[in-house]
Amino acid sequence: MKALMMTKYGDALSSLEVQEVSTPKVGDNQILIKVHSASFNPFDYKLLRGDFKAMGKIQFPEGIGKDVSGVVEKVGKKVKTFKAGDKVYSRIDESFAGTMAEYVISNASDSANIPSNLSHEESAGVPLAGLTAYQALTDVVKLSKGERILIHAGSGGVGTFAIQFAKHLGAKVTTTTSTKNIELVKKLGADKVIDYTKENYLDEENKFDVVFDTLGGNHTLDSFKVLKDGGRLVSIAGVIDSITAKQFGLNKFVSLILAFQARKVLKAASKIGASYRFLFMSSSGSQLKELAKLYESGSIKMIVDKAYIFGDSIKALDYLSKGHAKGKVIVNIIK
Ligand SMILES: NC(=O)c1ccc[n+]([C@@H]2O[C@H](COP(=O)([O-])OP(=O)(O)OC[C@H]3O[C@@H](n4cnc5c(N)ncnc54)[C@H](OP(=O)(O)O)[C@@H]3O)[C@@H](O)[C@H]2O)c1
Repeated sequence: MKALMMTKYGDALSSLEVQEVSTPKVGDNQILIKVHSASFNPFDYKLLRGDFKAMGKIQFPEGIGKDVSGVVEKVGKKVKTFKAGDKVYSRIDESFAGTMAEYVISNASDSANIPSNLSHEESAGVPLAGLTAYQALTDVVKLSKGERILIHAGSGGVGTFAIQFAKHLGAKVTTTTSTKNIELVKKLGADKVIDYTKENYLDEENKFDVVFDTLGGNHTLDSFKVLKDGGRLVSIAGVIDSITAKQFGLNKFVSLILAFQARKVLKAASKIGASYRFLFMSSSGSQLKELAKLYESGSIKMIVDKAYIFGDSIKALDYLSKGHAKGKVIVNIIK
């Protein structure tokens, strides 16, 4: 089968190529998916760039892509939940090779039927970014009705989900984006938009119960300035906390470096009695089922920025890596 492969550390244009590789074999608790569409996430260009070397080096050539929507081709001996022909989507497990391929393996437990009102192209954009926003707002900060939340980068892959979930949960949403995306984030339900090219969110007078930091860098530490005493800050791009270090099984040396990097953030949190959590999202078929219900009930909508053909998948990752996607970037393996 054909698969887009990472050939060395670098950027999309220099380090990816389509190669002929063998079709993966399905294990007892797994399904083999004939890929219709796949989507890229910033994780993919960061992995290719070598940002996660401390957590393990890549054995090149290696597949790329975590999100898939397609049709079950074959099921493992112990799989009772799916049959050949089912339309499924998944954020595949860390240990499997990429979704930018004609076929991919996923654990049955990491997969779910796609929302009945979405195409494969739309469904492929959901798993990683959708689960991230869902896990951040429900599992980590447990956002509740009437609370005020600041969502950084509301126009991005994760932000477009987060605004909609937060509204679905009954929260009051403020988000940051640039001028060209103001209409988009308003349509998704944002109550207040801060155009970061003209205004500074740090000037906000009313403090927030919750901040969802999708940007990292200075934004993580600065966000405590607009957080209420006792508030909750969840980050997916800032410094890693001890819970996540354990989740990765990082060695003591790496954990110590991370703890050193996190000390300012933890100090800022403790000064106002706030909580800080870094979330590294995880695959979940049962949460994908919950998301499917939200699409089917019309509570949330899928925002696709651009869809590319397989032959242009390198261009798709190059586009995403510029950091200005509006919603999700999809690659249609079958068109
Ligand atoms: N820890 C985890 O499990 C996890 C999971 C998913 C994602 N992530 C990380 O979370 C981050 C966001 O992911 P994503 O998929 O949403 O990325 P993305 O789709 O590439 O985000 C692009 C969006 O960010 C906006 N943006 C850029 N700079 C901004 C700024 N200074 N202020 C406000 N908005 C800004 C852009 O809007 P403009 O064009 O208007 O600038 C664009 O719409 C990435 O770093 C990713 O690696 C982590």
